Amino acid sequence: MIPKKMEAAFNEQIKHELESAYIYLAMAAYFEDQGLDGMARWMRAQTQEEVTHAMRFYKHIAERGGRVKLHALAEPPADYSSPLAAFEGALEHERFITGTINELVKLGREENDYASESLLQWFVDEQVEEEETAGRVVQQLKVVSGDGRGLLMIDRELATRNFVLNPELAGLFAQGPAQ
Ligand code: FEO
Repeated sequence: MIPKKMEAAFNEQIKHELESAYIYLAMAAYFEDQGLDGMARWMRAQTQEEVTHAMRFYKHIAERGGRVKLHALAEPPADYSSPLAAFEGALEHERFITGTINELVKLGREENDYASESLLQWFVDEQVEEEETAGRVVQQLKVVSGDGRGLLMIDRELATRNFVLNPELAGLFAQGPAQ
């Protein structure tokens, strides 16, 4: 049985992850509007990934006899002053999420909740990757500093991103074998 404090904190984290999806979808819409289709695609892939993050917590709560409760999501910003500002926003948001994951690790230790350790370690590792990925795009955008040709090259590179659903998670989305 999941401790009540962990259940509440994980439900809060589901909200953070779905808010991440919402923020990235808003960024996708911004890039769509700017004609930067590669960046829009990258953001849509990121949106899907964030939903799977929320679902990892959903699955964990449900498996341990807890109750998933969904909270209201905040409205994301609709516009950004530049592609760089949008990706800087993404990086800043990922740093915030890293902080929330660290707090969950701390709480898990305080509550002696060993059953959540491997789930949370997955997220600790994932956040290193998330910050690195967003940070790299921020660096690239700074290098081209608004130059149209450079921007289009980055856009083309980001267009190659695909979202691939981890087969282990397929059951969560009612795709693939039932779990
Ligand atoms: Fe779910 Fe991008 O952190």
